[in-house]
Amino acid sequence: MTTRVAKSSKESSKPPKCKNNSKIAKKEKRCKGTNRSKEVEITRSKELQIASSTSLLQRLYGTCKDVFRSEGVADLHLSDVQALAHILDSMVPEDVGLCPEIKFFNPAAAFEGVPRVGYTSLYECKKFSLCIFFLPTNAVIPLHNHPGMTVFSKLLIGTMHVKAYDWVDQAESEDSSTPPSKFRLAKLKANGILSAPCDTSVLYPTSGGNIHEFRAVTPCAILDVIGPPYSLEEGRDSTYYNDIPYSALPKARKGSLINEEEAESYGWLEEIEMPNEAVMYGVHYMGPEIIETAP
Ligand SMILES: [Fe+2]
Repeated sequence: MTTRVAKSSKESSKPPKCKNNSKIAKKEKRCKGTNRSKEVEITRSKELQIASSTSLLQRLYGTCKDVFRSEGVADLHLSDVQALAHILDSMVPEDVGLCPEIKFFNPAAAFEGVPRVGYTSLYECKKFSLCIFFLPTNAVIPLHNHPGMTVFSKLLIGTMHVKAYDWVDQAESEDSSTPPSKFRLAKLKANGILSAPCDTSVLYPTSGGNIHEFRAVTPCAILDVIGPPYSLEEGRDSTYYNDIPYSALPKARKGSLINEEEAESYGWLEEIEMPNEAVMYGVHYMGPEIIETAP
């Protein structure tokens, strides 16, 4: 979803850091000697940083670079999806500097009693982005889409309810019961609870639950890999929706291709303005740095 940070949210919150990632800094401090040897040491230090970056976060970044090779392309090979998901599956909160003991939600960020979602960016380029969402209990990332994108979501901490839809093909939804045009038929792809630790969820441009909603049952942290990223200039902005049950539009049921047994697996989505809950506050990232490498 497009991240719009609340104007009043300059009060960025700092998540606690579990691991002090200062080993690299210590190595650099030890560097002494002539200018030439300093140069060698600096070069070596950089090499050490990358070599020591067998960290999962660094591997995740490197794999993203391989997988999202071209700008604006979201259709990935299965092997690429598996490679990225495999790394994310094994990631734990500490890999991005977080503790399972959550104290990093900002209660002051609640808006009119609605708990607000925090957001931090780990990395962004034109081909992909890495970010973390922080949801206090009862916070919600409202139903939104990901136009032309593939998104990997790894729940690092907490328990949340996930609801996800894909659009039904136009031909499939065309029948004598066509509802008012502001509603569009969608098929439910997920509607259940996820608890960390769990495997990575992947959604695609037209499948896998491209339109989804996260609702926190307990405080949650979700690591997202998005490729390509949201971009207003390139026509990839998020749209928000309300959903209503398939059976809530009586006319829709008459003569419908969808029978009563199937009806629970469908819903009508109505485009809405960006809800208040979608306005997030910025969280200062304090986890391990990603070391950018050459293209
Ligand atoms: Fe999303």
